Amino acid sequence: MIQASAPGKVILFGEHAVVFSMPAIAAPLEDLRASAGISPLQEGAQNDMLIEAPAIGYSRWLHEATLNDPLTLIVQEFLTSVGIEQFDPLHIVLKSSIPPSAGLGSGAAASAAVIKALGRFFEKPISPSEISRIIYKAEQIHHGTPSGIDNTVVAHDRVVFFIRDQEPEFLNLRSPLWLVLGDTGERTSTATAVSQVRRAWQENPSRFEDLFQSIGAISRQARIAMIEGNHEILGKLMNENQSKLEELGVSSERLEKLNEAARHANASGAKLSGGGIGGFMLALTDKENVEAVRLSIIDAGATAAFVSTIE
Ligand code: MEV
Repeated sequence: MIQASAPGKVILFGEHAVVFSMPAIAAPLEDLRASAGISPLQEGAQNDMLIEAPAIGYSRWLHEATLNDPLTLIVQEFLTSVGIEQFDPLHIVLKSSIPPSAGLGSGAAASAAVIKALGRFFEKPISPSEISRIIYKAEQIHHGTPSGIDNTVVAHDRVVFFIRDQEPEFLNLRSPLWLVLGDTGERTSTATAVSQVRRAWQENPSRFEDLFQSIGAISRQARIAMIEGNHEILGKLMNENQSKLEELGVSSERLEKLNEAARHANASGAKLSGGGIGGFMLALTDKENVEAVRLSIIDAGATAAFVSTIE
């Protein structure tokens, strides 16, 4: 069997504002991954594939592809991109340790794992930029106007400073970031959160554009603090970013409770991550303090909390 995997992701700074062309920073989550295995299949027709993700009950043949199905779409895009028309029947099995619909990039990681595995199987090297382009197509099915940050970070597997429609800048951090991620247990799709912000912006463009600008400024300062390894400033910037996200209307009581619990346990900063209105929050802390922050978040009602490092 040929296998490949891809990481989940966190947005460290700038979510939502990035949809409106402001800069944002995202990082891959190396411990949370989606993996795809490909093997030949006895049954099935020529040029067909059975794509399965047993954990979510997904099972579909390529010939059954519909326009709203991201996995079959990315397989077709891959085949077109590398010019493959003829192949014996195949079986793709997807597994993932990334919580779905939680703002951690589970969909983008699944797509990236499938494309990488197909590239290996057919011995067609495929660049991270091309993987990113294909995943973007799938992301558009989930919400019509993705900024492109999720597919970029997952495909390149690197910390990225991202501005829509510009070449991404990959950041080398002076020192690793110790993060604690806490799950509110609440779920709102990114599409819903993004369209809520869009509606609010249409109703009050000048207020929201000011908010987007301030978030963009936070991301620019965070870029420098990350390169210089200034974690105290990064924590402060996270807190400021969280206040702006509250003003955008994408926070929730639970997110704020978990953020408070993290700060109370001496985290340098805490904020929601991704689309918001539930999902995960993240806290930045010292290596020595991660367990205290994790326990504090759990005490405050997180349904799960785990530690991750960004290098
Ligand atoms: C989702 O991970 C990040 C958002 O900014 C949406 C996007 O960038 O497409 C909320």
